[in-house]
Amino acid sequence: KGVITLDPGYKNTGSCESAITFLDGEKGILRYRGYSIEELAEKADFLEVAYLLIFGELPTQEQLDKFHADIKSHSVVDDDIKKILDAFPKSAHPMGVLASLTSALTAFNPTSVNVDSEEEMYNAIVRILGKFPILVAWTMRKKHGMPLDYGSSSLGYVENILQMMFKNPTSDYEQNPILINALDKLLILHADHEQNCSTSTVRITGSSHAGLFVSLAAGISALWGPLHGGANQAVLEMLEAIKEDGGDTKKYMAKAKDKNDPFRLMGFGHRVYKNFDPRAKIIKVAANEVLSDLGVEDPILDIARGLEKEALEDPYFVDRKLYPNVDFYSGIIYRAMGIPVEMFTVMFALGRLPGWIAQWREMRLRKEPIGRPRQLYTGETYRPFKSIEKR
Ligand code: CMC
Repeated sequence: KGVITLDPGYKNTGSCESAITFLDGEKGILRYRGYSIEELAEKADFLEVAYLLIFGELPTQEQLDKFHADIKSHSVVDDDIKKILDAFPKSAHPMGVLASLTSALTAFNPTSVNVDSEEEMYNAIVRILGKFPILVAWTMRKKHGMPLDYGSSSLGYVENILQMMFKNPTSDYEQNPILINALDKLLILHADHEQNCSTSTVRITGSSHAGLFVSLAAGISALWGPLHGGANQAVLEMLEAIKEDGGDTKKYMAKAKDKNDPFRLMGFGHRVYKNFDPRAKIIKVAANEVLSDLGVEDPILDIARGLEKEALEDPYFVDRKLYPNVDFYSGIIYRAMGIPVEMFTVMFALGRLPGWIAQWREMRLRKEPIGRPRQLYTGETYRPFKSIEKR
């Protein structure tokens, strides 16, 4: 007591106890509520995984149907949200727009703010799960000059996301099982990752008893940065730049190793995974499958493969245990699906939503105290005030 331990970046500090996600960075193990990420990505759909993360067990068919029906009953947003969206310039980054709109939802859903009971929490949760995909889709549609539209209540959760994003005003959107499956998988793989930067932000914001929606908005802002969720956009931009530059991967490897150059190989390295990122393994296979199923030949995939091969053999990367992370191949799939690059981090947020919610709910149910780290003060000792003419 009274002694402050310094741990910049919280590399060795546990901020909470949690029963949601197990992660062993040395062995490359990731499990949600005890179920391996490999099995979940293969056998479950995103909504089942959302239920599992939030409530602790895989749902029965009846529970899943009720959960989906409750979400669908809230799959609408106040018309004034459209006005707020309209006020943003087209150039606005979708992550900033998404954070603002998520926060703005609070104003239109006042009953979702001061939630204490499990029932009130449930109502806030199904509300945001219903409304968030609309904000995601509209953020994209606005930027691309497409009319704003709701999806169809007859569709599955993920199918409806695709419908809302891509539906053309003059023709029906044709669902493609390859895309539904790929998106389901990507969202599941992003759904939770214990106390990462954005999740810790959601927990710490919620620990002041700020409402769920603003806590999520804080998480979205934290996710935006290129060292975190923003890496998926940065990876694709990096691969594009390498392609434009003649495909010289060696040049970029050298830049990444040069300590005088701020450039980092985006999509490489992880705070916790030091042998491999299990999500990256699954996504790499999925990227190959999706591209071949869709018959897409993307030269970017060859550049990514080449870069990965070189890095895995390079002493700089080997010594520092730097491996491709979840974001290295995800952008290649998003691109094949027709999702614009500036939307990639928004897709990450869509996937992470159930994890953020589960962590927020756990934090509230455990009645955790307000998050309040200390510091080691390194500034001036006491000095008397100096009047302005003497400064
Ligand atoms: N390229 C080149 N060098 C790197 C990279 C990289 N991508 N990542 C780490 N290093 C070096 C770093 O310079 C340092 O070298 P040295 O020991 O000589 O000073 C060493 O490896 C350790 O790096 P660190 O920055 O201390 O590690 P960290 O745990 O603080 O950071 C990281 C982890 C993910 C922020 C970092 O690896 C990184 O910036 N990667 C690129 C961005 C990225 O792909 N982020 C997505 C992470 S996964 C999804 C998510 O969490 O959202």
